[in-house]
Amino acid sequence: TRPEALPYDLAGVRVLISAGGTREALDPVRYLGNHSSGKQGYALARVAAQRGAAVTLVSGAVSEPGAPAAVDIVHVDSAVELSREMTARAADSDVIIMAAAVADFRPVGVADAKIKKGAEGPAPIELTTNPDILAGLVRARGADEIGASTVIVGFAAETGDADAGVLDHGRAKLRRKGCDLLVVNAVGEGRAFGTADNAGWLLHADGTETGLPYGSKTLMASRILDEVAALVPDR
Ligand code: CTP
Ligand code: CA
Repeated sequence: TRPEALPYDLAGVRVLISAGGTREALDPVRYLGNHSSGKQGYALARVAAQRGAAVTLVSGAVSEPGAPAAVDIVHVDSAVELSREMTARAADSDVIIMAAAVADFRPVGVADAKIKKGAEGPAPIELTTNPDILAGLVRARGADEIGASTVIVGFAAETGDADAGVLDHGRAKLRRKGCDLLVVNAVGEGRAFGTADNAGWLLHADGTETGLPYGSKTLMASRILDEVAALVPDR
């Protein structure tokens, strides 16, 4: 038997996590990307594995050095690849966490050869919309393509703006995405509803809202997984 103090509460739970940023190719050497460090997704993978989960981490580009121990890692570049790898594993997962920073758009075409600067100056980059992976996973669950009890978690980094605060944007996004839990991080200056000790909120589909105090990504991961563990049906 294990000591009570060790939370081994995710033993046997299959957890699929996306982390990092996607890279949308322009040509063989260039891409459109973002500043995601991957740290929160990697921390979730590490802590979930420590709590006994069988973890698969689908990782885009990260600045996080090193893979967490005892975690299966799959590397991807683009949002389309990430979508494919997540969708392929979704039916074999009990928990799916979309911590990746997915590019909303990608260039319409990828040039076969390196784009030259030429004499006529820059050409505009035409973009098209990437699949919404999180919304697609929720739809797949609704269509019985993945288990009805699969727990689906999304992330949102919000600044708040003239129309609404961070929390309002988070609530609207939770409704739009239809996931079970949305981790809302308050970023930047527009922290209209934020209090000094809140780094964000955990918003549940049932309307429950928990403040997330400032803390390390590891501590955040533990708090998020506490709520996730409570949503996983008894095994
Ligand atoms: N996400 C996704 N697929 C996308 C875009 C986002 O799965 N194409 C996921 C992210 O991994 C995250 C959640 O959706 O878990 C919210 O991402 P966010 O960019 O905040 O949401 P969007 O719907 O793209 O809204 P916004 O206009 O605020 O960017
Ligand atoms: Ca987005």
